[in-house]
Amino acid sequence: MTDIVLRAYQAGLVVPAFNVPYLSMVEPVIRAAADEGAFILIATARLEWIKFESKGLAPVLEEYRRWRKPGISGLHLDHVPVIDEDNLQVDYMPILEEAVRLGYHSVMVDGSRLDLEENIRATRKIAEMAHRAGVPCEAELGAVMGHEAGPPPPYEELFSSGMGFTDIAEAKRFADSAGCDWLSVAVGNIHGAVSGALKDRKKAQARLNLEHLEKLRLATGVPLVLHGGSGIRAEDIRAAARLGIAKVNVATEIRQAYEAAVRDSGDTAQAQKAVYERTRWLLRDYFGLSGTAARLTGQHEVSR
Ligand code: 13P
Repeated sequence: MTDIVLRAYQAGLVVPAFNVPYLSMVEPVIRAAADEGAFILIATARLEWIKFESKGLAPVLEEYRRWRKPGISGLHLDHVPVIDEDNLQVDYMPILEEAVRLGYHSVMVDGSRLDLEENIRATRKIAEMAHRAGVPCEAELGAVMGHEAGPPPPYEELFSSGMGFTDIAEAKRFADSAGCDWLSVAVGNIHGAVSGALKDRKKAQARLNLEHLEKLRLATGVPLVLHGGSGIRAEDIRAAARLGIAKVNVATEIRQAYEAAVRDSGDTAQAQKAVYERTRWLLRDYFGLSGTAARLTGQHEVSR
C-alpha cells in the first residue's frame, strides 16, 4: 500500500478511500471501482462502529474479504483519534494494534486534537508499531472540522480566516520527526457532519487553498491526504492531486446516498444501487480515475 500511494503521489493521481458506515456498502463500492478500473480503499473509522452500523474492525474485514478484488481494492483503518470528536480520551493503541494484527493494509492515528509535540509522540509510537508489520501509517495535523457535535462555523469564515489550517513550519517538524507515511492536512477541507439531524444536511461546498497546499507539499515531502472529500469543488480536487494530495477520503457522498435510498425504498438492494452509481460517478467524473488502477498497483495484487 505504501508503494501504491507513492505512485499516486508521483503521478498526480489519488487513491480514494471510501468509508463504509454500513457493511452492505462494501460490495457496491468495490464493484464500482472494478467497473471503472480504478484502485480504491475501503475504509472504516472508529466513529462508524460507534455512531453507525459498521460493527467493528473484524466485521468490516470479513465483509471486505467477501468482495475484495485483486488490483482494485485495499482495506484502511481511518481515524482512530487520541481525543475524539466528543472530546473524550480514547484508548487508541489496542484498536490500531488489532487492525495491524488482523491484516488491514494501512492505518490512521489521529492526534490532531493534541498539541504538536504530543501528536508527534503518539504518531511515532503507532508508526513504529505499524512499520514492524510492514503497514503504512497516516497521521493528521491541523483541524479538519465537521465531526464535532453542533453546527460547524460558517464555511466562508473558516476558509477566508484559514481557521484550523495546517501550519507550514509545524508540518515540516511533524514530517521530519513523527515517522508517518502519509499526512492528512487542513487547507479548506471540512468533514461532513456525523451527529444527530446534522448528518442528513447537505454539506457546504468546500474549496481548497492551493497555495497553502503547495507550501505544505514542499515542507513535508510525504504524500498528503485530504479528508472531507465529499463536495469539494471538482477543479480544486484535480489541482490538489498535482500538488501532493495522494489519498482522498470520501464518506458523506455515499453514506447520504445509501441512507436516502433506504428511507425511500426500505430496500438494501436499492441502497446498494445508489452507492454503486454514486461511486462510479465519483471515480469517473469527479476524480477522473477511470482505467488508472493498473498504473497505481504496478499490476500486482494487493493481498494480505
Ligand atoms: P466526508 O464525509 O466529507 O466525505 O469526509 C470523509 C472523511 O474525511 C473520512 O475520514
